[in-house]
Amino acid sequence: MDDFRKADSHTIPGKFIKGLIAFEHLASCNEDMQRCIELAQAASQTTASVLILGESGTGKNLIAQAIHNASTRSEFPCVTLNCSAIPENLLESELFGHDRGAFTGAERTRRGKFELADGGTLILDEIGEMSQIAQAKVLRAVEYGQFERVGGEQTLRADVRIIAITNRDLPAMVAEGRFREDLFYRLNEITLQVPPLRQRREDIKQLIENMVQECNQKFNKHVESISQIALDYLMRYDFTGNIRELKSLIKRAMTVAKGELLWLEDLGMRVEVPTEGEMGSSPEEAFALAAIEKRHIQQVLDYTRGNKKRASEILQISRPTLDRKIKIYTLRVQ
Ligand SMILES: Nc1ncnc2c1ncn2[C@@H]1O[C@H](COP(=O)(O)OP(=O)(O)O)[C@@H](O)[C@H]1O
Ligand SMILES: [Mg+2]
Repeated sequence: MDDFRKADSHTIPGKFIKGLIAFEHLASCNEDMQRCIELAQAASQTTASVLILGESGTGKNLIAQAIHNASTRSEFPCVTLNCSAIPENLLESELFGHDRGAFTGAERTRRGKFELADGGTLILDEIGEMSQIAQAKVLRAVEYGQFERVGGEQTLRADVRIIAITNRDLPAMVAEGRFREDLFYRLNEITLQVPPLRQRREDIKQLIENMVQECNQKFNKHVESISQIALDYLMRYDFTGNIRELKSLIKRAMTVAKGELLWLEDLGMRVEVPTEGEMGSSPEEAFALAAIEKRHIQQVLDYTRGNKKRASEILQISRPTLDRKIKIYTLRVQ
């Protein structure tokens, strides 16, 4: 999993982008994101350390990989270490390796991520979770390019560019004394702030279209796009899990989609059952298919602000059928 090529296909779940990640794949219509990508592109042409901040699922890892791939180090390895996934007692060995017999279970000498990334890039993901002890050792390795394997006497050297990633408020952690100030300044020679998806909603449609196309290939489907009604819903969605959450929503919808469009139901959105009084006089009546149809058509008509042509397209029924239903159900056309 050390090499990005391997990591890409194995460790990014449900990946939609094939091959190596490049900045073109991250194109955005949002100004903050554009600024972030521009800065990342500029950073890729330097050997400066980069600190990538932003909520979980915003694409920080992809940006880190794009930086490596655009840099002069791209022929060398890009190694990722997720600092939160490694138990504290193993982190040092993961970072710097260990000599045979260094501790129980260390049956052979093993190289650490710093050594493996020599000449290339080391991505330290979730660096906010790293202990103070590990922080001190990383500082020395970053500052002087020197380290020892656990249980080893020889001082080793590696030429590594560090990209550190976190969803934590690192400056606040520094202020509270929970993250070393000297390491913080060493890591953030260039800082990238990745905006959350709810602050770059103008990208949602394009992201979905890309995901739909990828899923079509993957699941052998022929979905053309997302319905306006489902898109409208997602445009207002909170996305606390950002692009990762959008991706899993679309992936799930694509596995159940039957037609040419993705519908709210495919997204697993509950079609609300009308309350008594809203529709008919008893719950049984409210559950009748006709009652749900009446309510649904009314919602679509309201949504299209009375545009019957649009409504019939969304409902996938003909105009005469829509007119007939409007009459039968005595629907409101704005
Ligand atoms: N611009 C994008 N286009 C398509 N998928 C994206 C994009 N940005 C991120 N993703 C996907 O969203 C998920 C989260 O991305 P990741 O880089 O791991 O986020 P983070 O490191 O911020 O948690 C991944 O599955 C990734 O492939
Ligand atoms: Mg992450």
